[in-house]
Amino acid sequence: MKKVIVAGFKGRMGNTASHMVIDHKDFELVGVFDPRATEKTLGENLEFKGIDVPVYSKVADIASSTADVWIDFTSPTSVYENVKFAIENGISPVVGTTGMTDEQVNELQKLAKAKKIGGLIAPNFGISAVLLMQFAQQAAKYFPNVEIIEMHHDNKLDAPSGTAINTAKLIAEVRAPKQQGNPQEKETLAGARGANYEGMHIHSVRLPGYVAHEQVLFGSEGEALTIRQDSFDRSSFMSGVAVAVAKVQDYDELLVGLEHIL
Ligand SMILES: NC(=O)c1ccc[n+]([C@@H]2O[C@H](COP(=O)([O-])OP(=O)(O)OC[C@H]3O[C@@H](n4cnc5c(N)ncnc54)[C@H](O)[C@@H]3O)[C@@H](O)[C@H]2O)c1
Repeated sequence: MKKVIVAGFKGRMGNTASHMVIDHKDFELVGVFDPRATEKTLGENLEFKGIDVPVYSKVADIASSTADVWIDFTSPTSVYENVKFAIENGISPVVGTTGMTDEQVNELQKLAKAKKIGGLIAPNFGISAVLLMQFAQQAAKYFPNVEIIEMHHDNKLDAPSGTAINTAKLIAEVRAPKQQGNPQEKETLAGARGANYEGMHIHSVRLPGYVAHEQVLFGSEGEALTIRQDSFDRSSFMSGVAVAVAKVQDYDELLVGLEHIL
């Protein structure tokens, strides 16, 4: 049995992940963490009745936890400190939270390597998104003109999405830096052309009702290719999270991207 702690359990993804851990035959939920929590045990919440695992509202209180794996669905401002704490305390992180800088990820990777702790940061746990990124990288070899549109619910804190940044990074591995569009183009409204990653433009849409969606558009002389994925329900991310929880301790470094452990 993998002993699991869920950070951010009061949020949308943390709640779904807590249910997944409880329902999984090979996992045991040993604690949940959220600074918004006021209850002492999870079972005080009607939807978790009978699940009397400890609730933590301060990270320092978790030091005595016996957890093997730390699932993190929190916020861009807290994820770095949380993951650092988990690694320092010998707990393998499985991180879905987006918004960390490259420097923060590098530091955490160094720390995990020094402590020989396996971990995974996945900007997207959905299989459709992982495949979209792989297909987009393949297509970019033949179509270097590309724009990315990502669409999310309007409570999302970071923009562009971690998946969009990761898609751009993967494309950049096979595409020479290239400024797209007319060199003379001018924005008459600031931001009209979106964010710029090595000349690729990324556009972020935020609307109620959406969950997580991405389109990668390739254009060439007389033809175009569009690749799209849609995550309609947060439960779609859970098979990826479960695979990560099951396998993460087999590694001794902090990996980035679900594709590395599938
Ligand atoms: N990787 C993926 O597949 C995937 C999928 C969906 C969302 N996400 C990401 O997951 C994160 C959470 O998304 P959400 O929609 O559940 O957000 P949310 O706002 O619903 O929940 C975040 C929760 O984290 C809690 N929190 C804040 N600081 C904390 C801390 N220091 N320690 C523990 N908990 C803390 C908040 O109180 C809140 O309950 C976001 O970064 C989002 O982009 C990733």
